[in-house]
Amino acid sequence: MAPVALEATARHLTSAFVTTFLLSVHVLAAIIAVGPVTVAASMFAPAVRSALREPDPRAVGVVSTLHRICNVYAAIGIVVPILGLATAMSMGVVGDPWLVASIVLTGIAALVLAMAVLPSQQQLIEQVRTSPGSAVSTTRVAVTSGLFSLLWTVVTVLMIARPGSTTGV
Ligand code: HEM
Repeated sequence: MAPVALEATARHLTSAFVTTFLLSVHVLAAIIAVGPVTVAASMFAPAVRSALREPDPRAVGVVSTLHRICNVYAAIGIVVPILGLATAMSMGVVGDPWLVASIVLTGIAALVLAMAVLPSQQQLIEQVRTSPGSAVSTTRVAVTSGLFSLLWTVVTVLMIARPGSTTGV
């Protein structure tokens, strides 16, 4: 094989390896970080209702632990869009409509989590701690957590279907 062809093959293999690596870590990070936030956030409202029904320090502990899981994994989740962008750059698909839509929806999901879900959880924890047995509405935290899950589910489907892309399903 001619040296030029060899060099082109080596460059292609390196680029394929980098893309595979970035995509694998991106998907792994999405599973490890976004999964726990979704599960803990969906369990939060029922846990608050149960802690208010039967005041008990263990129930308050469960509510606090669920909030901590959401906080910690939301922070770890920042790597998901960072690695997603790195993958997109490596694949040369940064301007593709399906990717732009995913970036916008990921941004909205992050805002919903940071500005609605986590502050509502914090507020409910205070209420569970200071006024056990009181009537508290968990609608806001339940609705915003559901919206967060819906948004990232749509993003995941977009990542897999890639509408408009020649590499889509
Ligand atoms: C700024 C946000 C994001 C960017 C720029 C991004 C970018 C990408 C890119 C370029 C791919 C490769 C697609 C292909 O194989 O052609 C990908 C795949 C994937 N992404 Fe993202 N991503 C983002 C957010 C997310 C989020 C929030 C999730 C889920 C929680 C997610 C889950 C996935 C999954 C499961 C795949 C694998 C799809 C497949 O190969 O079939 N991504 N992403």
